[in-house]
Amino acid sequence: MPLTANPSFSTITLSRQTQAIIHADAIINNFEYLNGLAPESQSMVVIKADAYGHGAVNIAQILKGIAPAFAVAITEEAIKLRQAGIDAPLVVLEGPHQQEECVQARDENLILVVHDSQQLDWIRNMTPERPPVIWLKIDTGMHRLGMTPADAARALHQYRDILTTDCVLLTHMACADDLENTATRQQLETFNTLAASAGLGVSIANSPATLGWPDTHGTWNRIGLGVFGSDPIHAADYQARLQPAMTLSASVIALREVKAGDAVGYGEYWRARQDSLIATVGVGYADGYPRHCPNGTPVIIRGQRAPLAGRVSMDMLTVDVTDIAGIQVGDMVELWGEQLRIEEVAACANTISYELMTRVSPRVPRIVRHR
Ligand SMILES: Cc1ncc(COP(=O)(O)O)c(C=O)c1O
Repeated sequence: MPLTANPSFSTITLSRQTQAIIHADAIINNFEYLNGLAPESQSMVVIKADAYGHGAVNIAQILKGIAPAFAVAITEEAIKLRQAGIDAPLVVLEGPHQQEECVQARDENLILVVHDSQQLDWIRNMTPERPPVIWLKIDTGMHRLGMTPADAARALHQYRDILTTDCVLLTHMACADDLENTATRQQLETFNTLAASAGLGVSIANSPATLGWPDTHGTWNRIGLGVFGSDPIHAADYQARLQPAMTLSASVIALREVKAGDAVGYGEYWRARQDSLIATVGVGYADGYPRHCPNGTPVIIRGQRAPLAGRVSMDMLTVDVTDIAGIQVGDMVELWGEQLRIEEVAACANTISYELMTRVSPRVPRIVRHR
């Protein structure tokens, strides 16, 4: 199969079948669903970390003319999108890390989210050149990034020459994925007190807040995970509406019979209780499949679940396929995606779907599929 999707492998015409299919229709469906939950807001799609592993350029192209703006974490990510011809509004969530980035941001028409006065000074020092558009990040309780509400109120006055009416006040919720947690209400109250006196646009909601906390819907919502089809709240209703946007799959590259009592893989981590059939699959932790997945973690082969048997190694993993009839070398195996939710695999690895998605390595070709 020719691998045109990954330029670094363009001279190779035949390879293993390991791939991440990116489902364009699922991405559009998920965006429209989340956007529809907040009819008074605009929804920007967060495509930092290469769109959570889906390919930032892929996602910006799929959502061209559908999503009104995108957000990235750092300036370099925004510049790469511009170089790929993405001309949509781009918000840089961490703002400039170096003074030079302010000029780049202005030249590339980026919106900078600033969180401290040094960044504001850098931007002011650019004048009399036209400064980039600035949004202001407020720390309302997450205690990761942002000005205190008191400092922000002072900055709005002190830097009023560069904080124009385009400025949007932004905050980030620490616990929006937990619908019982009162911290979200407290953060919202703190934020609203400042916002009421500022008279500017506001941006609060991420995916869980968009799904579960309508009071957080602002001028702009910032949605990432939900667009990629994973439900941060773990509610059956949402899982029915959000369609997986990535299917990670690989093929069976070897089959072997083992006897009862035989061990499989590093450290003899799995031992056969009965005579068994083991499939070796061409994907490992160097591709982003978590090494922490224990024996029993499901994969899908021939439409059926089969359990991992043995430690995940760098380029391969092993599965007990004793109960799968007719299995052959070359059969495709789904590690997560349309038939197996990524949240379930993440739980087996004792992590979250955000981490699994973002760790799919550059070695895995991303193939965009339109149904
Ligand atoms: C500041 C900020 N806003 C929005 C998002 C998007 O969050 P989610 O993927 O939960 O929608 C993130 C992601 O981590 C973020 O850091």
